[in-house]
Amino acid sequence: MQALLEIRGLHAAYGAVRVLGGIDMDLAEGRVTALLGANGAGKTTTLRAICRHLVDTRGELRLAGARIDRCSTEQIARMGVGHVPDDRGTFVQLSTEENLYLGAHARPGRHGRAHRAGVADDMERMFTHFPRLKERRAQQAGTLSGGEQQMLAIARALMGRPRLLLLDEPSFGLAPLVVQDIFAILRRINEEQGMTILLVEQNARLALELAHSAYLLETGRIVLQGPSSEVRRNDAVRQAYLGE
Ligand SMILES: Nc1ncnc2c1ncn2[C@@H]1O[C@H](COP(=O)(O)OP(=O)(O)OP(=O)(O)O)[C@@H](O)[C@H]1O
Ligand SMILES: [Mg+2]
Repeated sequence: MQALLEIRGLHAAYGAVRVLGGIDMDLAEGRVTALLGANGAGKTTTLRAICRHLVDTRGELRLAGARIDRCSTEQIARMGVGHVPDDRGTFVQLSTEENLYLGAHARPGRHGRAHRAGVADDMERMFTHFPRLKERRAQQAGTLSGGEQQMLAIARALMGRPRLLLLDEPSFGLAPLVVQDIFAILRRINEEQGMTILLVEQNARLALELAHSAYLLETGRIVLQGPSSEVRRNDAVRQAYLGE
């Protein structure tokens, strides 16, 4: 089966600083794929390179068969790639609701009554997934708790109706209970809507529980890949990433 996103020979650099040395990945449609790796391995850079955001890239990217590696960041968002960056990218001065409205700008055909009705429906759906956001719909995003801000960042990306969701460390800095909450919601979004997800996570145990398959990145190269259950059993992964 053709992957929803095919990555071939992806290189990425910040000026003279080369970070990705030609990586290949296949993201299966409807599946969660984890991208694991130590600090500085290039995980964030991989997500940026897919969106062609902030980094120089070379290589081939195909979304549902169509080349996107010459498209702009905005075009890639419109074509259905939702990116939740590591700094969450929320507008701290704006309310929860205003942030969600802005998320809807990423979708195609954003004018007219049908669009407005669709946005209102999606907003309600987000509040079903994230009841905490509903209670805080008028609150300034910068004053939300860390967990609520992460939920808002995910909901904002979903408002763009992506086909593929890129998540950069959604557990970062959050208490275990909040992390459990967020991962349960991600699982539901994947299972109920068939959302394809690329999940970057430091917490390998958590990522491997949610993901169907995983890639391991070491200094800009993929050194291991396979179904999560196999990656989970790999001795090097167990020692270095699971502390077993
Ligand atoms: N804007 C930048 N300019 C120059 N180098 C950068 C820039 N951003 C990242 N790098 C470098 O690229 C390498 C990979 O960084 P990246 O943020 O992709 O790693 P990561 O795997 O996401 O790490 P972490 O787990 O710490 O988030 C690092 O050596 C980093 O110093
Ligand atoms: Mg990172």
